[in-house]
Amino acid sequence: MEYGTEGALGRGAAGRIECRSVRKTYRDAADGTEIVALDGLTLDIEAREFLTLLGPSGCGKSTLLNILAGFERPDGGKVLLNGVPIQRPGPDRGVVFQDYALFPWLNIQQNVEYGLREKGMNKAESSPIARRFLAMVGLSGFERRFPHELSGGMRQRVALVRVLAIDPEILLMDEPFAAVDAQTRIILQEELQRLWMQTLKTVVFVTHSVDEAIYLADRVTVMTARPGLVKAIVPIDLPRPRDSTSDAFNRYRRDIAQLIEVESRKVFAAAAA
Ligand SMILES: Nc1ncnc2c1ncn2[C@@H]1O[C@H](COP(=O)(O)OP(=O)(O)O)[C@@H](O)[C@H]1O
Ligand SMILES: [Mg+2]
Repeated sequence: MEYGTEGALGRGAAGRIECRSVRKTYRDAADGTEIVALDGLTLDIEAREFLTLLGPSGCGKSTLLNILAGFERPDGGKVLLNGVPIQRPGPDRGVVFQDYALFPWLNIQQNVEYGLREKGMNKAESSPIARRFLAMVGLSGFERRFPHELSGGMRQRVALVRVLAIDPEILLMDEPFAAVDAQTRIILQEELQRLWMQTLKTVVFVTHSVDEAIYLADRVTVMTARPGLVKAIVPIDLPRPRDSTSDAFNRYRRDIAQLIEVESRKVFAAAAA
């Protein structure tokens, strides 16, 4: 497969995120104790960068993504998008979760058009855009199908292009492929990479999979066990598309898996104490 170097649909160099000493605490609903999810996380995400976030379960990955999306506010520190504090959700950020979140009462064409209409487009404008994006992920001919008539992989494609069609600067993805089977997951990873190469958005992608993180990322960020901090940032210096069977890929796999294992052991030790 050949990838171009130019973003055919790309915009300017906007989409830079700065997290400065971000702190987020929750109250445990059962006993009222304070849970520190993030304790001073500092991380810069470059415009048009594909950054993956890896870390043990409960280390605050989703918390960070929700703060970037504007769904949650930090208790301390700063989160800036193009130099401006993030206060609330906005059309400059598209969010894709594991569970698709399509509208079950709309067919997939209508699902993709929904956000475009919200943006103020009329039917004549939104319809061809939705068709074009569905075609990009092989769903031409399925426009009138409803979400329940599609496989998990197809639904996740719709969820992805529904967000891409709105053309946000930033794509925030929280374990988006965790619920699909292994074969479909690989295809979705390839498709996401192809779409990203065309649009060159800033992507923050949370995953449990070391392979997925290496396959997709410009930089893999490994987080510590809760409270979440950045443990290591590993730039992946491999040409795309990447061969996950190569020696170089294997070296990254081994190094990153070791970093994660140390943190995962801390979670088990804390649970056993
Ligand atoms: N709404 C909430 N109320 C209480 N605790 C929460 C809430 N959301 C997350 N947490 C806690 O904060 C920590 C980080 O959660 P999360 O960001 O979901 O982790 P991850 O996505 O890395 O698995 C966990 O201990 C989790 O239980
Ligand atoms: Mg999570």
